[in-house]
Amino acid sequence: MTRKSICVKIVMIRKLGQQLRINRSKIRETSDTNTDFDDLNGAIHSGYFLKDGLGNNEDFYYLNLLVTVTADSVDELEWKCAEMKKLLLSQDMNVQPCSFRQEQAFLSSLPLVSLEKHLFERSKRNVLTLGAASCYPYTSYEMCDDNGILLGVNKHNNSLIIVDIFDSNVYKNANIAILGTSGAGKSFTMQLMATRMRRKGIQVFIVAPLKGHEFHRACSNIGGEFIQISPASPNCINVMEIRKVDKSVDELLDGPGVEKSLLAAKIQRLHIFFSLLIPDMSHEERQLLDDALIRTYANLGITHDNATLDDPDDPEQYRTMPVLGDLYDTLKEVPDTRRLANIINRLVHGSARTFNQQTNVSLDNKYTVLDISELTGDLLTVGMFVALDYVWDKAKENRTEEKAIFIDECWQLIGANSNRLAAEFVLEIFKIIRGYGGSAICATQDINDFFALEDGKYGKGIINNAKTKILLNLEDEEARRVQSLLRLSEAEVMEITHFERGSGLISTNNNNVTVPCCKSNCVRTGSADSLGMPNSAQSCLALTWGRCLSCWMPTPNPGITLSRTGAITISIF
Ligand SMILES: Nc1ncnc2c1ncn2[C@@H]1O[C@H](COP(=O)(O)OP(=O)(O)OP(=O)(O)O)[C@@H](O)[C@H]1O
Ligand SMILES: [Mg+2]
Repeated sequence: MTRKSICVKIVMIRKLGQQLRINRSKIRETSDTNTDFDDLNGAIHSGYFLKDGLGNNEDFYYLNLLVTVTADSVDELEWKCAEMKKLLLSQDMNVQPCSFRQEQAFLSSLPLVSLEKHLFERSKRNVLTLGAASCYPYTSYEMCDDNGILLGVNKHNNSLIIVDIFDSNVYKNANIAILGTSGAGKSFTMQLMATRMRRKGIQVFIVAPLKGHEFHRACSNIGGEFIQISPASPNCINVMEIRKVDKSVDELLDGPGVEKSLLAAKIQRLHIFFSLLIPDMSHEERQLLDDALIRTYANLGITHDNATLDDPDDPEQYRTMPVLGDLYDTLKEVPDTRRLANIINRLVHGSARTFNQQTNVSLDNKYTVLDISELTGDLLTVGMFVALDYVWDKAKENRTEEKAIFIDECWQLIGANSNRLAAEFVLEIFKIIRGYGGSAICATQDINDFFALEDGKYGKGIINNAKTKILLNLEDEEARRVQSLLRLSEAEVMEITHFERGSGLISTNNNNVTVPCCKSNCVRTGSADSLGMPNSAQSCLALTWGRCLSCWMPTPNPGITLSRTGAITISIF
């Protein structure tokens, strides 16, 4: 700031102070029924607003707005002027015609930076830096990263929203939180991102705790792996398995690391699993379980020495791992742990005995969906944990590879029905996945439940660790809850509560942009009724070269999109 502008500012603050004092003394003499009272009151408030702004490093400007109206005939001009006047008045802007000063007005409107003196005096109004900045004609809030994925179109200026969340120069972390009420389009948005990431070669894992079928169509279209975990499904992830992790990249980058006991790390995570399965486990039982786990692994020759994990017949592989049935047998041996054995019996000999197998699925496919929606009640949280635990091991393998873990209906894991350990596990993923070159993306409805556990500690933690937030339609109460957390303005809250399906607000790097998400024909969620349309009526904005950007399926009409209602809109990009 130059010396001159500092002097001007000081003079301005002094003048403001004087005027405020005058207005305050005037208002004392005016009764509050008098019409002048409101004007004076307004002037005092404005005075304080300006004074506060100037005291907070803002500058004082005069702003003039000249509107040029052109028309082919006088009648048309008059009509246009009247319409323009109505429009501006509806926005609370007073307008005056430049009668008898048209020439000066015309010259002032040319880009010569010279405003005629009288016009300047007549049309000036004061603003602070923020107000002036909002009028700056070259400001446009755009998100267009090289190599990003298309999310939609900016509602304000129709520019494409293309984000590369993995670009660490722009985004501090690649995590995203998607919030929205039921049916707002969270799963849809997630799949759109997942399929587009997959096209970029990014490894994608999706954990679907509810309505897993919604993810099946896109998954099979792009040749992904759909793993269903349920009592009735043959697929199984052995939760007791200590998985062989490929450390070659780590060693290449950092040199040989410190050997940590893999058994201890596994048992630590198994404690989370059992605390989900047996929420009322006492402290003593926890110790006994710990002991039983060590004995179960020891029975198969596995100890804290990592060398014992290698299969003597094939050192490239780990030896056969225990399954839940082995733990059950160990627990049955001691009377004090019989209660625990009886509880896990459901997963060993009971209705969910498919859990009692060695892992028979693999995560090598670049697009893997883990559908756990067939699990209900307490088994759902347990299944979600098993799936995440497996994915997390895989995600940590190669730090140089970009990967994204999508967690739909995250409230199931960190909500009131879950427990502290599971919530901490999810939060840990959000906190440290950046270090492994990955992104954690969660979607949640029921914001109240999301912030339910331990006074919202985990919900807030996830939001704070997600640099990008996508807000879809929210109920008024939910929107108010996130308002302070995301520092949303009143207007943004209003917008969010009135969003239509497919519209969202992306908040990242202190930028809030409203986006109607691109529609894609191949990503569909919801019931048959809501899908409604026969296949010939496609709804796909993301068309290019005759293929859909999301799943690369051939589309019938290259470059032309047909809307859901059948009307044709052209969208070529
Ligand atoms: N951007 C969009 N364009 C077109 N249709 C959409 C869009 N977003 C969502 N839909 C449609 O809206 C319906 C609901 O979407 P979705 O299943 O993603 O909602 P949700 O927020 O995940 O709901 P829930 O919380 O109940 O799972 C689906 O029929 C889906 O196809
Ligand atoms: Mg959903």
